[in-house]
This record gives sequence, C-alpha cells and structure tokens, in this order.
Amino acid sequence: MTPSIRTIVLAAGKGTRMQSPRPKVLHEAAGRPLLAYVLDVCQTISADTVVVVGHKAEEVRAAFPEKPGLRFAHQEPQLGTGHAVQTALQAWPGDDHDDDAPVVVLAGDVPLLRPETLRALCDLHLRRGASATLISFRAANPGGYGRVRRNDSGEVVGIVEARDATPAELRIDEVNASLYVFKGRPLRETVARLSAGNAQGEYYLTDTIGMLAAAGERVEALLLEDPSEATGVNTLLELSAVEKEIFARRADALVGAGVIIERPDTVLIGPSVRVDPGARLRAFTILEGSSRVAKGASVGPFCRVEDSSIGEGATVLDSCLIRSSTVDAGASIGPFAHLRPDSIVGVNAKVGNFVELKKTRLGNGSKAPHLSYLGDAMIGEGVNVGAGTITCNYDGVTKSPTQIEDGAFVGSNSILVAPVKIGGGAYVAAGSVITKEVPEGALAVGRSRQENKPGWAARRPKKR
Ligand code: UD1
Ligand code: CA
Repeated sequence: MTPSIRTIVLAAGKGTRMQSPRPKVLHEAAGRPLLAYVLDVCQTISADTVVVVGHKAEEVRAAFPEKPGLRFAHQEPQLGTGHAVQTALQAWPGDDHDDDAPVVVLAGDVPLLRPETLRALCDLHLRRGASATLISFRAANPGGYGRVRRNDSGEVVGIVEARDATPAELRIDEVNASLYVFKGRPLRETVARLSAGNAQGEYYLTDTIGMLAAAGERVEALLLEDPSEATGVNTLLELSAVEKEIFARRADALVGAGVIIERPDTVLIGPSVRVDPGARLRAFTILEGSSRVAKGASVGPFCRVEDSSIGEGATVLDSCLIRSSTVDAGASIGPFAHLRPDSIVGVNAKVGNFVELKKTRLGNGSKAPHLSYLGDAMIGEGVNVGAGTITCNYDGVTKSPTQIEDGAFVGSNSILVAPVKIGGGAYVAAGSVITKEVPEGALAVGRSRQENKPGWAARRPKKR
C-alpha cells in the first residue's frame, strides 16, 4: 500500500516582483487565484495539505477557507524556504506519521504543474527508496534559479543558490524547480539543523539536499523534459504567459473532447465553464464564470458570455455581450446584442441587432429583431416587438414592470411607459406612446393623427 502523502505549500513570501499589493498567490489566471490551481493538484495526491502563509496571511486565508485536508501555518517573520517548512511541520506535532512517509513540498506559484508530474515525482521517490527527490530541468537561461550540483557519477550532491554560486557553478544549466518530496523524518531532522550563513541570510530548504547527500542518504532528481509546467510566477509578465498557457490547455482539451473551436488561440474559456461536445465557438470569443454552452450552439465571433447558459442549437452572432442570463434552445441573439443580468430568451426566440435586455423574459418564439431596449419586462410567447421599441421602466426614482401577453404585436418605434400591460393578441400602432393598459385583442393608437393637405405641393411658394 502506498503510504499517505502529506503536502506543504510555500506561500508566505512577499512576491515583491509582482509590483502589486496583492499577495502573489491570490493573483488570478483565467479568473482563478494561482494557489487554487496548486491546491487542486495537491489534492490529487494528498489528503493532508498545509499552506504556509505569512505576508498578508489573512487575505490568503480568507480566500481559501480551511476544510478537512487543508490547513494553514503562519510563518512570521519569513526567514526563508527552510524556515517555512519548519513552520509547516509544526502542524503535525507529536508525529505518529510513518517516518518514511512522503512529504511533498512545493511553492504556491506553479499553476501549470500537472497532476501526472507530481505523481511521477512521488513514484520515482518511492521506487528508489530515496530520502529526498526533487524536480529539475535544464534552463536555457538559468538566471536566479538554484543550480543542481552532481558528482562525477552523476548523483545529486546539493543545490547552490545563484547568489551563493561560484562562476563555475553558475554555468550549470540544470536547475531546481522547487518541487520536492522527502521522507518525513530526514526532512524534520535536517530543517532543524539549517543555518542562515548565506548571501541572503535565510534558512534555505535547498541546503537540506546537500546535507542529506553528505550524510549518505539517497537523493534523486526527476529531470523534466518540458520545464514549462514547473515555471513559477514571479512577475506580471510571467503571470500573463502562464494564463495564456492555461487558456491554451483548456481550448485544446475541449477540441479533443469534440467542441469545434475556430482559432483556439483567440478563444478564452474559463476553468469553470462547461462546453458540450458539438458546440461551436468562433474566433475571439470569451466564456467566463459558470457559463455553459450546449451542443449544437454556436457563439461568436467576438462575443463575451459571463455566467450564462446558451441552450442547445442556439446561435449567438457577432459581437454580443451576455451576462447572468439564459438563452434557451434554438434562440438567436445578435449581432450586437446586450443581454444584461437576469434575462431569459425563450426557445426559438430572437433578439436581433442593437437590442438590449435587462431583467426581461422574452417568451418562446417571440422576436425583438432591431434597435430595442426591453427592461423589467415579462413578454409572452409569439410576441413581435417592432424595431425601435423602448420600455420606459425608470422614472428617475423607481423601476416599473412591463407586461406583454402572448401573441401581441408592438409596432415599430413604440414607447411603453411602465408600469403598463399589453393584453394577449393586442396591437400597438407604430410610433405610439403607451401609458395605459391595452386590453386583449385591441388596437392602441397613441400618437397624433396624420393630416394630409391635398394639392399643397403645387400651392407651395415657388423658388425664384
Ligand atoms: C527557490 C529555490 C531555488 C529554486 C527556485 C525555483 C530556495 C532557497 N531556493 O528560489 O533553488 O530554483 O525557488 O523557483 O528555496 N517562501 C515562504 N517563506 C519564506 C520564503 C519563501 O513561504 O520565508 C515561499 C515563497 O512564497 C515562494 C517559495 O517559498 O512561494 C519560493 O520562495 P522564493 O523566494 O520565490 O524562492 P526563489 O528565490 O525563487
Ligand atoms: Ca520563486
């Protein structure tokens, strides 16, 4: 049986290079904090995670409520990664945990890490019976990374931080990713013996590797072929690169699952969005929050859908913004439509060009094809809302509802002054201002009548 794995996530640092007051691990990629991605990966291997917080600890804790399997350790002051691990280990006092049981240590700023990789690290560690196993990769530009030192037989003998390295050590291109797994007891014993006699005056976790190797303990390294997933986020520029990769992975996975995506590099799909196989997303489309797109639906190009549901076979044409709304099966939206929160567009209904809906229900098969504002309106089935129709739902103080019953026909350029009701099957003449209820089946004409003056053109004074 594989022993249960404990996980320590290091997230107490200041993240100075982000140039932002927000704690680094709370910066968002694709609408989720960096730490959320890391915790998701940890949960795939471990049911016992301790996150080390320090800088703006309360903000981090507030964003991630404790729950079974997730706890916080407070590191104050922050004296280095080794000190952070020491702090975390206090979360397991009077340890009855198996001395050999694995403790994974990783930073909270590596959102691209894949569960398979963490699993491979643990497998290698257990297979070799190592005391410590780390992830390394070859960096074209090793910069500030810790360098992995090996002896002539290729065994890992230590890690030297860039700031403490000799010129020869700086030329080593194998670097430390800051992703490790240790045996519990050797980790506990070596972090307790760390000293801060280095360029940064910090207790380096990396020193434990050299200490264990020197004591004759087995130290292994998993050299990653593709280092991109181990890259940490230290700057806003790295954050945007990581976000780009997160979106690319999501789009690729959906295409693999049968979603048709035009120009996937331009389409941004948030992590909590659901897109069913057989849906079609056209270029430059953004799906956010808890949005859902059903099979046979098509969205885009140039649309943004936030916390909304697009039903089976529905079409959202070019340049629409849809927020917290529902578009039922077979409906058609846009181009250039705006669905504001709490709007519902019924089955096979149509919202056309330059139409804005707010807290409005447009019933099944109803149409508002051109240039309308419909706010706080309950519109029944089979209703035709003519071009330019406006609900006057706001008098400067209160918002009032408009009700349009099944089968009504509202002529173009009508003004519906709410609260008002138009009965089933009623007609409103084009250009009307409607201020009182139109009874079922009636015709309402609410405008001054046209007067024709026969022969007037001929009598008109001539130009000289
Ligand atoms: C660290 C490694 C380096 C490795 C690099 C990979 C050390 C000494 N060095 O360097 O070998 O190549 O990661 O990215 O470990 N943290 C705390 N408490 C502290 C200090 C840091 O929790 O007192 C956390 C930070 O929030 C961060 C992580 O530990 O998540 C790494 O710290 P950071 O200062 O970024 O280390 P690096 O200099 O990048
Ligand atoms: Ca770092």
